[in-house]
Amino acid sequence: MIKETVYNHLPVRVQSQLDQLAETLDVFREMRNPKVLLSLGPSGVRGLLLHRGKQGRPTLAKARHTAHFDWSYESDQPEMRDLFQRAKAGQWDSDRDLPWKTSVDPLSPEVPLIPRDFIAFDTMAEAGVRLDPKEQTKFNYSICAWMLSQFLHGEQGALFAAAQVTEAVQFFDGKLYGSTQVMDEGRHVEVFSRYLNEKLNRLYQINDNLFVIVDALMTDGRWDMKFLGMQIMVEGLALGAFGTLYRTTKEPLLRELLKRVILDEARHVHYGVVALKEHIKKDLSEAERHEREDWAFEIALLMKNRFMAYEVYDEWFADGRISREQWRRVVNRSKGMIEFRHVMFSRLVPNLREIGLLSPRIMPAYERIGLLPFMQGKAAPELSGEQLVADLDRDLALRSERPIGASRHAS
Ligand SMILES: [Fe+2]
Ligand SMILES: [Fe+2]
Repeated sequence: MIKETVYNHLPVRVQSQLDQLAETLDVFREMRNPKVLLSLGPSGVRGLLLHRGKQGRPTLAKARHTAHFDWSYESDQPEMRDLFQRAKAGQWDSDRDLPWKTSVDPLSPEVPLIPRDFIAFDTMAEAGVRLDPKEQTKFNYSICAWMLSQFLHGEQGALFAAAQVTEAVQFFDGKLYGSTQVMDEGRHVEVFSRYLNEKLNRLYQINDNLFVIVDALMTDGRWDMKFLGMQIMVEGLALGAFGTLYRTTKEPLLRELLKRVILDEARHVHYGVVALKEHIKKDLSEAERHEREDWAFEIALLMKNRFMAYEVYDEWFADGRISREQWRRVVNRSKGMIEFRHVMFSRLVPNLREIGLLSPRIMPAYERIGLLPFMQGKAAPELSGEQLVADLDRDLALRSERPIGASRHAS
């Protein structure tokens, strides 16, 4: 009680810093496995305490992986070879294949970037900030540009991770496939940066939690951790996020851009599942498997609880009109963010099951955070990019004018 009274009398900036610190301590407290703390801890300090991604200068991450050369060039993994063939056939050129001439007005009420009910403006009003329709449109513009900025930052991480994985992977067919992913990710960086730059004229800084994940997998020397971090976790997150935006935006250029990217990303996750499945089940000791299981859970937790769009909060409410705690309530009640998390985990959890990182040992932890219902969904090898897009289109047709939270499903 006394603590609360003292806290409420502190300047808003100090309150905000204390809130950030408490959240950071929570992240570290949640890491029960000492090995996970050791591998994620330094990235946590760099991202959450030092805000290294927000210093306005380049970040240098020390890579420690080993490049694996095989001079025999024998085809060793038919599923990866098949993915390589499909990836070659599926290459596209953003200059030629996307309608860049489309005129985009981020504040257009007729062609909204995201639906009006994406954010819980009623919860915001309960917290004391009532935005009028014009301000709501401006706010949604911020949210959309923030999401696309995080996609772009994630894509830069994916580009570098794909290059590292191509060097480190032990399958010859995996190296061939990896070369196509490097090209894919380069194209994704190209299209998201161009869209933000030319159409939205905005770029938000990288979210600290995303920075932690990218930093951790860039600096981990173990190839399978890079796979797990990028191909399964970050790509899973990306697929969910792209799917949500693809399904809800009315802006035609953005829709087409996202559709193309989703088709590429589905291959990337498939590749990660194939590469890790045998390795985790057969090559690792029990202790090594447990470490990866706990590591994946911590990352899932970071994704579930920590993507709070604080960069938008800082832009709109740093003056203290609403507190960070009230802001978290707004985000947690926002239909768009709920759907985003739902679609993201419906993609991620089945893949973790498929590669053997959802043993009965860790299941209670997933149950505790409400992710077990996604367990029975389809894993990446059973779901092509074309099917994914078809599912999203079908949902869109079914949803028609219904609110965006009404069409959630977990397959
Ligand atoms: Fe990508
Ligand atoms: Fe990717």
